[in-house]
Amino acid sequence: MEMKIAPSVLAADYANLESELQKCSGAEYIHLDVMDGHFVPNISIGAPVIKALRRVSGKVFDAHLMISEPQRYIKDFADAGADIICFHEESDGCTADTIRMIKDCGCRAALALKPATPAEAALRYIDELNMVLVMTVEPGFGGQSFMADMMQKVRAVREAAPDIDIEVDGGINPETIKLAAAAGANVFVAGSAVFKSADPKKTINELRKNAEDAAQI
Ligand code: DX5
Ligand code: ZN
Repeated sequence: MEMKIAPSVLAADYANLESELQKCSGAEYIHLDVMDGHFVPNISIGAPVIKALRRVSGKVFDAHLMISEPQRYIKDFADAGADIICFHEESDGCTADTIRMIKDCGCRAALALKPATPAEAALRYIDELNMVLVMTVEPGFGGQSFMADMMQKVRAVREAAPDIDIEVDGGINPETIKLAAAAGANVFVAGSAVFKSADPKKTINELRKNAEDAAQI
């Protein structure tokens, strides 16, 4: 499976987002964390910022909606240029309807699971989903420690769906990525590891290489 690195803009310098994105030329996706101050305690960016970034980047935009009412905003994010729209299983609204709305807007649909949410919550919808996001920290903040016990969940999803994209998000660095890749993840969000690195381009390549090596074992 192709390994994909998704630098998370949450850890970037918001005063210089265009140049921060240029550092991600070697990545496959750009991960955009949207927080509403309700589903999670923080407030981050919304559709207008994604729309502005769309003008300066051709990468696949992976919008991670940590918001209570995803259905209200799906069209805004699709129009802003999101390619993948990921929402939380724990958010409001019928999950099957939200997936359908995302696809009707021409986007790929992904479902995110908080640490306490079991794999079954995604497996119910697996045939409709393009990606499952297994959170490896509690959503809401960057810079937290990777929860290795989430790897059981990654394994359960991989067993049930050998071909689906499985994304992990939170605390991914060149060491923890090995555990996630060995468990079956193939899309890796990395905020602090990339943007706090002295050499983000090198770190992105190191992340991918470590994931590829670990996935083969
Ligand atoms: C957390 C966000 C993550 C965050 C990851 O709620 O969903 O995408 O940016 O940051 P790091 O890689 O620093 O843990
Ligand atoms: Zn995220």
